Amino acid sequence: MATNERPGSASLSRARVPKIPSVTLNDGMVVPAIGYGTWAMGEEQFLDALEAGYRLFDSARGYGNEAELGRAMARSGLLREEILVTTKVAPGANGYESTLEDFNDSLAALRLDYVDIYLIHWPNPATGRFVDTWRAMIELRAQGLVKSIGVCNFTATYLRVLIDQTGVVPAINQIERHPRFANLAQTADNASLGIVTQSWSPLGAGGDVLKDPVSVVIAARHGVTPAQVVLRWHLLRGSLPLPRSANPARLRANLDVFGLELSEEELVAIESLDTGRRLQGQDPETTNYS
Ligand SMILES: NC(=O)c1ccc[n+]([C@@H]2O[C@H](COP(=O)([O-])OP(=O)(O)OC[C@H]3O[C@@H](n4cnc5c(N)ncnc54)[C@H](OP(=O)(O)O)[C@@H]3O)[C@@H](O)[C@H]2O)c1
Repeated sequence: MATNERPGSASLSRARVPKIPSVTLNDGMVVPAIGYGTWAMGEEQFLDALEAGYRLFDSARGYGNEAELGRAMARSGLLREEILVTTKVAPGANGYESTLEDFNDSLAALRLDYVDIYLIHWPNPATGRFVDTWRAMIELRAQGLVKSIGVCNFTATYLRVLIDQTGVVPAINQIERHPRFANLAQTADNASLGIVTQSWSPLGAGGDVLKDPVSVVIAARHGVTPAQVVLRWHLLRGSLPLPRSANPARLRANLDVFGLELSEEELVAIESLDTGRRLQGQDPETTNYS
């Protein structure tokens, strides 16, 4: 059925839904190894993603699309517990009371009574409030309003500040990570603390890495696409990618990566594409969003 023909209550076909392997976080939460990146996406794309088999949606207060995600979930006919929703505190809301208020706005927009994963979106170090945000998130988890709590864009230093001051280790650190900025040191640091790394912009935001001869040649050798090679690299190198696509065929292909075998040589070749430069220069130590 074409997306514009979907009825108000879309009963999604589950016949072709692939089985996505899962990973257990340090708090016992079980999450799919690939989630759907929701930035700039809307209700019909969410339904396409649900139909393709995605069950983890990476949203954020700052993306302005929580209401659309909530509507898509309601229309899907799936049970609440079949879908995992991540959302993130708006960076400008860092602080104890402001986080609690921002969370209430997220719940209302999503039309949910709990969120599966709640993340600090940016440390915003200039405001000095990320520990207060973290304390609010610990409280939300204690109240059962959030199942799992974590962070995004945290450096080794900021992670230790959180842990030293609260004793609570984040379950996830979601960081910029793709072959052009492999972020190997932070990925290793997360692992050393028992924190799962999620990769944002895992496809390099669809940029030149998917056209680079290295990824093109490896893809041709295996009869897959460069995007599939890059997604498999994430998984084999210990991080969970959150690819975004508005294209239903790519949505499906991006989940069809678990059987792909890449050699150590091929993984190293992909890492040779690392420039050490962030796509948009968003260094967490100097970036402060309002
Ligand atoms: N925590 C944070 O601070 C943070 C920051 C940035 C992003 N994120 C999260 O990470 C998610 C993903 O990052 P992103 O949205 O920047 O980019 P991305 O997933 O790396 O790349 C998306 C781009 O790749 C294209 N694409 C997708 N699949 C493809 C395929 N199989 N072949 C070729 N091109 C393909 C898409 O175009 P089509 O739509 O045409 O397929 C789109 O232009 C976001 O949506 C968001 O949820 C988090």
